[in-house]
Amino acid sequence: MVKATFHILGSSKPLSGNIEVYGAKNDILKGLASVLLTSGDITYKNIPKIEDVDRTIELLGSLGVLTKEKGARSLVLNAARINGHTLKRDIAEQIRASIVLAGPLLARSGKVRFPYPGGCVLGKRPIDLFVHGWRAMGARMRMIGDEYEFSAKHLHGADITFYKVSVTGTEAMMLTAVLAHGTTILRNSALEPEIPHLAEFLNSLGARITGAGTPTISIEGTGGKLLSGAGTFVTLPDRIEAGSFAALVAARGGKVKIINCDPEQLAVPIEILREIGAVVTVGKDFIIVERKVKLKSIDMIKTREYPGFPTDLQAPFTVLLTQAHGASLVFETIFEGRLSYIDDLNRMGAYITACDPHRILVSGPTELHGRLMESPDIRAGLAFIIAAAIAKGQSILDGVYKIDRGYEDIEKRLRSIGVDIERKKS
Ligand code: UD1
Repeated sequence: MVKATFHILGSSKPLSGNIEVYGAKNDILKGLASVLLTSGDITYKNIPKIEDVDRTIELLGSLGVLTKEKGARSLVLNAARINGHTLKRDIAEQIRASIVLAGPLLARSGKVRFPYPGGCVLGKRPIDLFVHGWRAMGARMRMIGDEYEFSAKHLHGADITFYKVSVTGTEAMMLTAVLAHGTTILRNSALEPEIPHLAEFLNSLGARITGAGTPTISIEGTGGKLLSGAGTFVTLPDRIEAGSFAALVAARGGKVKIINCDPEQLAVPIEILREIGAVVTVGKDFIIVERKVKLKSIDMIKTREYPGFPTDLQAPFTVLLTQAHGASLVFETIFEGRLSYIDDLNRMGAYITACDPHRILVSGPTELHGRLMESPDIRAGLAFIIAAAIAKGQSILDGVYKIDRGYEDIEKRLRSIGVDIERKKS
């Protein structure tokens, strides 16, 4: 991790050109975890070069997973032999998605030990759904100091109802159930596109998963037999990155083609952009965002599980709403600690009032002014870049590594459409 800052000179000059969307962090991390269920060579494509991917590969390497080939955006991994059941503390503590490695490891080795998973601080982020799921499948839990250990000679299928919809919870239980004995039913599952994608990939290797992408998923376990044969995982384009770029263009003005994305996965954010006055043209794998008229406020943006408005786009769209005429309500329903970044936006000149821990009122339009800021997490970090790009004067953004965890070469791509942003080592 190289310490760096972003220096961003804001402007109202219209943006133009094409910007490419890279592979999604939230997709590739689960694809990488699934190698632990396999014995053949698994090829990964469209991999984003980001911190969380590097650390996950390091974590897999420490368990004995071999990296057989490495290309620019591709990788071949082989997990025919693994030699441990402990997730390295220093890495697992940094990445929330490290917990999706735990299920496959438990299913395969009969034991797994891991620390409380880290990641962005978005509120409490408990792991009770995982604990409940593994216990329902027959695992015993014990604490060793502050680390979790789960063990089970044979995991058995179970009928598991999530009391709350969870993306990684659904993925973790789906991955665990692939090697279990018997059938597992997951009810009230998350519907995010990464879930059916993961299921399709696992099925291509011989898993038997049906219903992924609906609330009820059924997994017929292999009874401990590893999935064999070679497989290829092509990382989905990052819908959050695409949506953030769209918010930037609408906020600053201009016309930009956002390429290599899946517009279908962005249906609700696109509708919101249109509602507030942006013109969005949708192609097969691109969207063109253009702002011709003044932006207007919107009654409410409410974050919801997919296909609703994603919580990961909440901060970028809040920045956008600071440029809309009128008052807009933003209602964050997924996480309780995800609005604290508004203090920084207010210091830049925004007029955002917190109604309660979940709701804010954004009054606009307001002129933002460049400042010195620190990125609080991956998604709000990108929102700060958007704010800085439309502000008057220069902003310096610290904590760039938090943005690097999720977005590759963000400054290069933003420069190509006209944002004045530079990375400086600090
Ligand atoms: C994933 C995404 C993250 C996104 C989030 C919501 C990854 C790596 N990260 O995170 O970018 O913001 O979905 O779309 O895919 N919860 C519990 N108990 C649990 C697990 C979760 O109460 O055991 C709660 C969480 O605190 C939160 C809600 O469930 O309030 C949904 O969180 P969840 O879907 O699990 O988020 P992640 O999968 O961690």
